[in-house]
Parts: sequence; C-alpha cells; structure tokens
Amino acid sequence: MSKILVVDDEQGIRDFLAIMLKKDGHEAVTAGNGADALRAVQAEIFDLVITDVKMPGIDGIEVLRTIKDISPETVVIMITAFAATETAIEAMKLGAYDYIIKPFKVDELKIIINNSLEKRHLRKENILLKREIESKAGFENFIGKSEPMQKVFTLIKQVADATSTVLITGESGTGKELVAKAIYHNSARKGRPFVTVNCGALPETLLESELFGYMKGAFTGATSNKQGLFEAANGGTIFLDEISATTPGLQIKLLRVLQEREFMRVGGTASVKVDVHVIVASNRDLLTEVAKGAFREDLYYRLNVIPIQLPPLRERREDIPHLVEFFLKKYAKKDAQGTGTKKIDPAAMRSLIDYHWPGNVRELENTIERLIIMTPNDMITLEQMPDTIKKVRPSAELAPLDLPDAGVDLEKLLENAEKMFLRKALEKAGGVKTEAAKLLGLTFRSFRHRLQKYGDL
Ligand SMILES: Nc1ncnc2c1ncn2[C@@H]1O[C@H](COP(=O)(O)OP(=O)(O)OP(=O)(O)O)[C@@H](O)[C@H]1O
Ligand SMILES: [Mg+2]
Repeated sequence: MSKILVVDDEQGIRDFLAIMLKKDGHEAVTAGNGADALRAVQAEIFDLVITDVKMPGIDGIEVLRTIKDISPETVVIMITAFAATETAIEAMKLGAYDYIIKPFKVDELKIIINNSLEKRHLRKENILLKREIESKAGFENFIGKSEPMQKVFTLIKQVADATSTVLITGESGTGKELVAKAIYHNSARKGRPFVTVNCGALPETLLESELFGYMKGAFTGATSNKQGLFEAANGGTIFLDEISATTPGLQIKLLRVLQEREFMRVGGTASVKVDVHVIVASNRDLLTEVAKGAFREDLYYRLNVIPIQLPPLRERREDIPHLVEFFLKKYAKKDAQGTGTKKIDPAAMRSLIDYHWPGNVRELENTIERLIIMTPNDMITLEQMPDTIKKVRPSAELAPLDLPDAGVDLEKLLENAEKMFLRKALEKAGGVKTEAAKLLGLTFRSFRHRLQKYGDL
C-alpha cells in the first residue's frame, strides 16, 4: 500500500483517480488547488503525487518544484490537458517521473503509476538491502549443539511468527544480532524490510531523527522532509541494537511507539502509524540499568515480552569444536592461495576449549581467522596459538599416571603434586611470585594463599 496525493482543480478527475487508487489498495488523499497540495506535502510524506499542470494560482510545476525541494524521495507524475511538450519537458527536467496527457486511458495511467511506485519501492529496498547484506545470516550459519543454544533455537522458531517484542541479552559477541536475523528469517515477515539501528552509535537528537524521520525546517540541516527508519521498516522488522545506550528522553518516545504503534516525525504534527516487529538487544543487564535509574522501568517491561538470554561461550564449551570447524571452513574460502581447509591438532584444539573467551564467539572467530593466516602449512598447532590462549593450557598434557594395585591416598597425592608444581613454578620464575603464579594460571592472591598453606614449602 502506498500513500498517494492527487492534485487537480477538476473535481471529476480528482474523485475518479482517488476511487481507482483506493480500489487498488492505496491510500489516496486529494487536493483541489496548488496551495492545498503544498500544505499536504508539508505535513505528510507521500510515496507518489499525481498533479495537474494547469491550475489557477499555484500551478503543477510549482507544486513539483516544492516537492522536489522538501521531499525529494516522493515520485511525481504530471497530468497535462494537451500535448504541451514544452511544459512536459520542463517538468521532467525538474525531476518529474513521467507525464500523462488528458484525456488518458485508464490502463495506460495504471501502468505509469505502477511503474513509478515500483521504482520508489526498489529504491527503498536497495537502501535496506545494503544494510542487510553486510552480515547475512539465517539458521545455517548459526552453530550451537549445546543444550542452552538448542533451547535458544527452539525459542526462535516459537516466537518468529508472533509480533511480540523480543529482548535479546548476552555478553558482547555471543550472537545477539544472529538471533535477531534468525527470528526475521523464520518469520512471515521474511522478504520484507529488516532494518538494523545501532542505538549506541548516534547522539540522542540524531538517533531520534534517524528513527522517526523529520520535516523540513525542524532543525538546522533539515532541508527536506525525510522518512525515518521506523517507516522504512513498515511491514517488516526493526532491530534496535544496544538499547541501553538510549537516553531517557528517547526511551519515552520508544515507549509510545511500542504502546500505540504510532509516532510523530521530528517537527511534524501528524502521527504516523506503523506495523513493525520490534526486536531489541542489549549487552548490559537492563534490570541493573533500571535499578541505577539509567533505564526506564516501564520501557523495560514493554520490551521484556519475550526474553532470549544468550549464554557466554565459556558456559557452553562443547560448542567450541563445532564453531572452530565452522570458522576454519568459512575462512578457507577466503584464502587467496586456495590451500583448502586447514586442520587443527588436538593440543591446539584443547587450548581453545579451555580458554575463557571474554569476547565470546566473535573473539573465537577472529582468532581462527588469524590462525589460518599465521599457519604456514595445513596443520594449526599449539605453536601458532596466541600467548593468552596457550597460557591457560591445563594439566591435559601430563603423562598418564598409573593407579597401583594397592590404591593411593588421593588427598595426599594431590597435595604432593600441588607442592611440587608450586616449587617448580617458583624455580622457573627465579623466585618472582607474580611470575610463578602466572605459570600456574593462578591469581597472585591464590598462589600466595597456597604457599602459606604449606608453610612456604
Ligand atoms: N553461534 C554462532 N555461530 C556462528 N557464528 C556466530 C555465533 N555466534 C556469534 N557468531 C559470530 O560472531 C560474531 C559476533 O556475533 P554478533 O554480532 O551476533 O554478536 P553480538 O552479541 O551482537 O555482539 P555485540 O554485543 O558485540 O554487538 C559474528 O561474526 C557472528 O557471525
Ligand atoms: Mg551486536
């Protein structure tokens, strides 16, 4: 459905066009003269304006000029009573999409209207598509065999077709954006717009005009009317990333959109209705933000209709080998030499599984990409592993121990082993305790505590 303005001083033509457009499912508004037309385009953003050229007072050319000034994205079709080619050419130069000559054939008119709307639609889609391509992802690129991830996948499928607001939380790099995309790709809204907004990237006023659009003159630099991202997402999905970065002022406005499904453009007077599925994400705990007074409680409850919590990677280590395989394949394709997919030896894999991954999957992905480049042959070994990851290598490489037939005193054995490692670490570190602690993957406090327990060995 498109929003169309029909301008003609002849009531018969006005009404005829309005009825025809409404029949085709569009929203049609009419104006009987140039002045009314200008008022309408100042207050509203139309997808298409069909205007008569010859009108008393402000004529169609003037209307066209004004539209191209305040709402350049609006498509304009001119109607001219006779083959006044000069005016028609002038109109095309000024940016009209096409012109039709009265008396017109309905079929011809419909073709021109549909083509013009298609063009407008394509232009909008193009902008959206560019945003989308940057990180495309459905389910196939979403790895997770662990139980908590399987639960997330089930939830995604369950909620995809509802339009309830989804709140995705999780540490940085856990895959929040992937969840948002997967919901979209599994919903009936797939193929309609998917608009991502990073709320943390823009200052409040800019974010507001990006989200809600603005009218010409609303602020310095608002040289034309512009639709916001909520309107661009109409019929589809909007993903508000880093929602906790919004200011209380903007939070009130978001609350209104969520409650009423309508909003006002910056500097506008008419409220705009939209049908959008809202998905939000935050890497901060919103309840904590509410407690600190940094996030509105009422908005929190509005957002928290369907919560999806992504576990940090260190709490689902069984996913690590699968993710490693996935990223090895993914980046092999980008390898210019075409050496194919590299492999990783068990010790190196072990170190990846044991690392605590503060940057979660994103950090793992970057690590694999780097390892592929740093590894000269086909096998990634511990040697290429970054120090931070190598360091936490645990006892996995100890020689296997035999259990004597007579059995052992495990407590005593472990105590002895601990003492031995403490002593060796101190030796290796030349007596520097902080260094010795690092060798054992311990904090200094914990290392000192152990030393005291054994009375300095
Ligand atoms: N389960 C997964 N399977 C495959 N790739 C993943 C998975 N989780 C995350 N990734 C990849 O890790 C990177 C980070 O994921 P994403 O951008 O979705 O995280 P995020 O939670 O939005 O992070 P941030 O809070 O920093 O914005 C992306 O390149 C994404 O493709
Ligand atoms: Mg993100």
